[in-house]
Amino acid sequence: MVKICCIGAGYVGGPTMAMIALKCPDIQVVVVDISKPRIAAWNSDELPIYEPGLDEVVKACRDKNLFFSTEVEKHVAEADIVFVSVNTPTKTRGLGAGKAADLTYWESAARMIADVSKSDKIVVEKSTVPVKTAEAIEKILTHNNNGIHFQILSNPEFLAEGTAIEDLAKPDRVLIGGRETPEGQKAVAALKAVYAHWVPEDRILTTNLWSAELSKLAANAFLAQRISSINAMSALCESTGANVSEVAYAIGKDSRIGPKFLNASVGFGGSCFQKDILNLVYICECNGLPDVAHYWKQVVQINDYQKTRFVKRVVSSMFNTVSGKKIAILGFAFKKDTGDTRETPAIDVCHGLLGDKALLSIYDPQVTEDQIKRDLAMNKFDWDHPQHLQPQSPTAFKQVSVVWDAYEATKDAHGICIITEWEEFKKLDYQRIYDNMQKPAFIFDGRNVLNVEALRKIGFIVYSIGKPLDPWVKDLQVSI
Ligand code: UDX
Ligand code: ADP
Repeated sequence: MVKICCIGAGYVGGPTMAMIALKCPDIQVVVVDISKPRIAAWNSDELPIYEPGLDEVVKACRDKNLFFSTEVEKHVAEADIVFVSVNTPTKTRGLGAGKAADLTYWESAARMIADVSKSDKIVVEKSTVPVKTAEAIEKILTHNNNGIHFQILSNPEFLAEGTAIEDLAKPDRVLIGGRETPEGQKAVAALKAVYAHWVPEDRILTTNLWSAELSKLAANAFLAQRISSINAMSALCESTGANVSEVAYAIGKDSRIGPKFLNASVGFGGSCFQKDILNLVYICECNGLPDVAHYWKQVVQINDYQKTRFVKRVVSSMFNTVSGKKIAILGFAFKKDTGDTRETPAIDVCHGLLGDKALLSIYDPQVTEDQIKRDLAMNKFDWDHPQHLQPQSPTAFKQVSVVWDAYEATKDAHGICIITEWEEFKKLDYQRIYDNMQKPAFIFDGRNVLNVEALRKIGFIVYSIGKPLDPWVKDLQVSI
């Protein structure tokens, strides 16, 4: 029986390994992590991440051919294939701070693999890493190998949160990069055989190591670029009276452009886009390509601009001050159908409003109070370290309350900000909400999910990203 061990039981490692176990009953899969609470949660009824369909997959194979364990070294030693899916934060100090990937966790995992291995292994890069990381890892493994042979492969994961199970079950493609030597190609074939259990052969692409590593960064950069492009258009739409949804629909009908990833928003979030682009920027700079670096940096800059612009719209609309005013924040996760808050635009929007002394009442169907308060207290980039190395949750945050109901969040509020596009926000009783708010009552829709006309009829003053402006908002003098 082939044995797979995955180091890192996070958003990537957990669901990916669960899918491999489901589709390959002849393979034993063990997911290991240094975090005891995380492993305990994977072994319980309350999985550590919220992902539609994940519970069923885990329940179908847990304790049959899928195991979660903290015995990292034991399971790595026994495995034929070791996936590495550990944190790769952006460096906060030293060379490349604010851009380059911090490979501390990766390096320590590689050293541990070399130390404990007693048989040949295929080591698979699953976390996104800078191009040429495989080469560095290979050096660590071969310099400490005790006569054991390691083959390193790059197998980037393209799943998106909220649709992870669907994406894993029917991937657009699986990408495997390996050395172009006979041993390298043998390792590629072995990993290909795992995916071939359920992925059609023509969707399993094989490349050299560096193409696979770079393809992951490039795919995320292209996707994020589309969002920044439509967000840049949303600003122009507001100034000209065009409607960004109509523009997106019209351009998306061009089959060369396509309709996906053209929803204007308060800004993209998530653990990948910003981190991967900054990483790409750093790699370009290190390779003497400042113009290319500058080009990609703009994608992140427009994203920051969009979040700042949203806050300016809120503050300027409400008589240029939100000091002492209750503002309801509906949604904190970086997108719907996930409880993940990594790099969520909600953090920047909340910081912006708190900077203007607003009183925030936050509601998200999946994010806990502890997580929200930790996120608001955290320094930039700290989120991507294992939890026990993150700052502890502060006890008091006077301006922020977290509630478990949208009606409670909006009661007596002056304004509402929609930050995440949860389906339930479309179905709320906005008449009831309006009746219980201070007047004039404002709604700022950062996701374009609400019916602007219906809300205006109720009496709300409405701002919706990239949509023709409410006369109230239009008449304000504001530089954005
Ligand atoms: C992304 C990539 O899609 C995935 O392939 C990669 O493996 C990891 O990074 P993820 O971050 O989970 O996945 O979510 P995604 O659906 O890409 O959304 C990222 C952000 O962009 C979210 O904040 C989302 O709300 C925002 N977004 C997305 C928009 O603002 N507009 C859009 O049209 C699409
Ligand atoms: P991703 O979104 O890429 O899956 P996560 O941060 O959700 O990233 O998960 C990474 C996991 O890797 C964390 O649960 C962390 O505890 C774990 N981890 C980091 N370093 C090691 C290590 N050396 N050994 C085992 N697990 C590790």
